[in-house]
Amino acid sequence: MEIDHVALFVQQVIEHFEKSDHQLLRDYAIRLSAVPLEDASEGSEPNWLKSCDVIDDVVLPDATRAILQGLRSVAELLPWHEAPGEDVPGGLAGHHAYTEIIGPHGRWRADHCRFGVFVIDADIHYPLHRHEADKFYYFIGGGAKVSVMPLPGQDFSAGDVVHVPSRTSHDTTTGADPLIALWGWWGDIDIGKYEFCEAQPQG
Ligand SMILES: [Fe+2]
Repeated sequence: MEIDHVALFVQQVIEHFEKSDHQLLRDYAIRLSAVPLEDASEGSEPNWLKSCDVIDDVVLPDATRAILQGLRSVAELLPWHEAPGEDVPGGLAGHHAYTEIIGPHGRWRADHCRFGVFVIDADIHYPLHRHEADKFYYFIGGGAKVSVMPLPGQDFSAGDVVHVPSRTSHDTTTGADPLIALWGWWGDIDIGKYEFCEAQPQG
């Protein structure tokens, strides 16, 4: 049987989460484990975006070295996209990318969670947005300031976990370093319930 390297990466993530000090990641490992990693779905063909170059360029951190190396080995096999919706703020175009590995549109179909990887270039502000789903970020390279309203923004780096509760507005801002994070949604994972909060110019 042909080896699916992306499946091996997911397995690596599950084992990493199972050993984590963070209860949230241990719980998420259970959700991921429920997905049978058999044949990949149609529509999961590779699609590289220029923003993904940072995956190879970022410094390997001690806390998440193996996971980032695992991602590097499969990143070119994944379908990368820009943020969903038609109202993506202009400054973001060409400077971020995400991929859904497991979920309604993932390489493996699931309707109880969405899991993937998120990348932002250095010096980028990913604006305030919200969604019905609960979300986590697990930082595996670089760093960023994340604001989860109404709390002030906090700096995070490799090995850190951020939990964004359902319907809570949040934004992400990078400085000198880019950000590479694993992300997961659970709860109501309908992508239609995703909206940017900052007012767009009228008229
Ligand atoms: Fe979000």
